[in-house]
Amino acid sequence: MTLDHRQPPGYQWKAPDSARFLLVPAPGGLTMTQGTSTGRDEPSFHEPVLVSEVAEVFKPLTSGVVVDATFGGGGHTRRLLEEMAERIRIVGIDRDPDAIANAAGLERETDRVTVLTGNFGEMRHLLDRAGVTAPVGFLFDLGVSSHQFDQAERGFSYRHDGPLDMRMGPDATLTADEIVNQWTRSELTSLIRRFGEDKVAGRIADAIVANRPITSTGHLAQVVADATPAALRRRGHPARRTFQAIRIAVNEELSALTRGLEDALDLLAPQGRCAVISYHSLEDRIVKRRFAEGARGCTCPPDLPVCACGGGQELRLLTRRPIEPTAEEVAANPRARSARLRAAEKSAATTTEGSRP
Ligand SMILES: C[S@@+](CC[C@H](N)C(=O)[O-])C[C@H]1O[C@@H](n2cnc3c(N)ncnc32)[C@H](O)[C@@H]1O
Repeated sequence: MTLDHRQPPGYQWKAPDSARFLLVPAPGGLTMTQGTSTGRDEPSFHEPVLVSEVAEVFKPLTSGVVVDATFGGGGHTRRLLEEMAERIRIVGIDRDPDAIANAAGLERETDRVTVLTGNFGEMRHLLDRAGVTAPVGFLFDLGVSSHQFDQAERGFSYRHDGPLDMRMGPDATLTADEIVNQWTRSELTSLIRRFGEDKVAGRIADAIVANRPITSTGHLAQVVADATPAALRRRGHPARRTFQAIRIAVNEELSALTRGLEDALDLLAPQGRCAVISYHSLEDRIVKRRFAEGARGCTCPPDLPVCACGGGQELRLLTRRPIEPTAEEVAANPRARSARLRAAEKSAATTTEGSRP
């Protein structure tokens, strides 16, 4: 993987050692006061959601490697180790250098955890390189961590003023600044409509183009708020959907999910388990469809006269409906509100060949 070290104005990716990168204010750059980016052992790096429910999914596994494809603050990894430490080894993945830096503490505590820097969209390549074959579990806890969201200089939040960045890691090839200040009106409209599912995408795109150059996240949030009709402003922050859309595009989140999930289900050992926590309907739809397809049995095209796939069911659904957080969890951690957990088990008989057309 080639790391692209482009940086937002006033910030730079720094490498304290060869494997770790931190986004820090450049000398003479923007002066932000919202905390540091070291991420090391911060107690509030991220509050993991649906932790017990995730642990329940993986508990029946006997032994092997579980891949935590979105390591973040390592909350799920820690819980799985508490429940199953004698039986499993965890290979974490994260594309964010802050999460990798944060993982170093846990890697020092136990030899049962290894964390890889990379994009789970390249799952097969990452695991091949690390010599991991046939994991017994995969966990995807999608989206951004609280650490990323709360660091103004990362540019994810409409609540803080920071640079228009939104890259989860330096491997992303786009920044929010390029989208906001260079994309055409029609490209912006379609982005905000598709990935933000915003009814007034055209109005917002018009306002963005009219207010260029847009210089920061605070500026963008204000432009979007001003362009949003009063009647729609009551449903949460008016810029939430636009920020979501830009973030998805910058990080190519949906294509990474489609590829990563496909690799995970293919690589998963027979009777291995895959769990995905999604936070909006675009993510959840991808997971729901892929799991349903795997649980359907014969996957041959309908015009094929004879079944060529063996008719075997690839997956057994462990959650017919997505599991949602309890009211208590949402009260304690409001960011859990939109979380939806789906899980599936790979069939005993499934082989990599023959189960899918
Ligand atoms: C919601 S947080 C995960 C929190 C984690 N489960 C915990 O308990 O702390 C999502 C994490 O996944 C990472 N991430 C999102 N998409 C990714 C991708 N395509 N490849 C690798 N990491 C990704 C983000 O950088 C972030 O650190």
